[in-house]
Amino acid sequence: PRLAVIVVAAGSGTRLNGGAPKAFVGLDEHTILRHALRGVFAAPRAQVVVVVPAGFEGPALTEVREVAGDRIDLVSVVAGGTTRQSSVAAGLAALWADVDTVLVHDAARALTPPSVFERVVAALEKGADAVIPAVPVVDTIKKVNATGAIVAAVDRSELAAAQTPQGFRRHVLVEAVNAADADHTDDAALVAAAGHPVITVAGDAASFKITTAPDLDRARALVSDSPA
Ligand code: C5P
Repeated sequence: PRLAVIVVAAGSGTRLNGGAPKAFVGLDEHTILRHALRGVFAAPRAQVVVVVPAGFEGPALTEVREVAGDRIDLVSVVAGGTTRQSSVAAGLAALWADVDTVLVHDAARALTPPSVFERVVAALEKGADAVIPAVPVVDTIKKVNATGAIVAAVDRSELAAAQTPQGFRRHVLVEAVNAADADHTDDAALVAAAGHPVITVAGDAASFKITTAPDLDRARALVSDSPA
């Protein structure tokens, strides 16, 4: 395939305290990783690179086998790094030669609907170099200093919250990763720092990132409410 999806699942999950690396924490009888992969395999056909903590390649492969179906030959599992950015780099290193378009997706956004993947892919097909799903910010945001005092008000109408999957022309992302001078919390920031325009498509509330214990509770409630 010309498309690849790198699923970054190598986070430790220290903020979640779930007793296992975050991707291997259960939502129902299935893990965060399993739910995330289900969304990836419902999306357009692609090479899939799953990036997990070193030592978890075996368990990850077991999860992959349960959901990949006839796409199993398109999947590889690799070990990630200590930062998200290094995990993305590990995923990029595993891409096949014919891939020209790459999506990078957080496994922690386990309930991302396939429609979001489709919107990102459609924007890339229309010629965008870089595209991210985003949602309007609902909270009123303040800029604060180290002591917590408000330094500035921020106009909420000018803000959007970035989600994943974030999509890129392969060479654009690879060059941005190679040129990176500092660690960035998402790939769009890297690509923007390298001077490329990044466009947005509509994200989805269901794509929230499972980061803290309340996020995990919310994801578990959503999964138990939805029909199988
Ligand atoms: O830590 P955070 O929740 O922001 O991580 C976002 C995504 O990046 C998660 O899916 C996590 O597994 C992944 N990650 C990674 N390697 C790291 C840190 C985070 O693959 N070293």
